[in-house]
Amino acid sequence: MKGRPMDLGLKGKRAIVTGASRGIGRCCALALAKEGARVCVTARDEELLGAVVKEVNAAGGEGMSVSADLTSLDGCKKVVDDAAGKMGGVDILINSAGAARGADILELPVEIIEEALLLKSFGYLRLSQLVIPHMKKNKWGRIVNIAGGAGASPARGNIPTSLANITVLNMTRALSDAAAGDGIMINTICPGMTNTQRARDLLLAQATKEGKDVEEVLAAVGKRTPAGRVCEPEEVGNVAAFLASAACTYVFGSSIYMDGGGRRSTP
Ligand SMILES: NC(=O)c1ccc[n+]([C@@H]2O[C@H](COP(=O)([O-])OP(=O)(O)OC[C@H]3O[C@@H](n4cnc5c(N)ncnc54)[C@H](OP(=O)(O)O)[C@@H]3O)[C@@H](O)[C@H]2O)c1
Repeated sequence: MKGRPMDLGLKGKRAIVTGASRGIGRCCALALAKEGARVCVTARDEELLGAVVKEVNAAGGEGMSVSADLTSLDGCKKVVDDAAGKMGGVDILINSAGAARGADILELPVEIIEEALLLKSFGYLRLSQLVIPHMKKNKWGRIVNIAGGAGASPARGNIPTSLANITVLNMTRALSDAAAGDGIMINTICPGMTNTQRARDLLLAQATKEGKDVEEVLAAVGKRTPAGRVCEPEEVGNVAAFLASAACTYVFGSSIYMDGGGRRSTP
């Protein structure tokens, strides 16, 4: 039976996507662009951002970029002010900027945790606080936070990313409570291992230790999940576009695990 494709109602919507120069953020930006959204992509590397703006335009969206370091309030303000100024407002925020380093808990300098919290926990919160007033004006908004399965699965080697992710999960619930009455939906996606440069960089040390290449280690991680493979960033982009869309109307403060079924906790 042939059905009509679902209208996501994203045409002309004004979005900011962080961490959009590569990986999951880039795929979120392109998924919105395919639906005709206007997308402001942000990260620090201007050259990579310029290339993503071209991809956004080619995909059917309208792209712009703002380069900023999101570990500071000034950086977050610059992004929201420039994007809202050029696009005339902000309807959607997808937070994906993250760069937590790994280190064993017994030797972990707390500065590495601080770094991870500054970019991800405080950056996601600051950007949400800055865009919500814009969304309130139209009584409509969507925020999608990319957290990660590590938030619910602490281990001795992943505490910086695990702590950053669990704070994002908790903040999402609280922000959702505060904004739901204004037509603003705020949700989280928790990807498991996802095939991006960041995942490869994090697995490099393990691969070197085991005398394997990164592809082998990535494939082995995927095989341990019920799905039998790791996640592709385009798959996260598609789910983010749905959560950011006008078709998604009654999902508040939730988290969607995209981990191939690998988590051991109850849903
Ligand atoms: N890949 C995975 O397996 C996985 C699994 C679960 C969760 N996640 C989460 O998904 C998100 C994206 O991960 P990814 O794999 O797509 O990583 P990625 O490919 O390394 O992309 C990270 C993005 O964040 C930006 N960024 C880094 N530091 C920044 C800073 N100080 N200010 C502004 N932007 C900054 C990077 O651009 P610049 O360097 O140019 O600034 C880049 O665009 C992260 O929050 C990560 O924790 C990833």
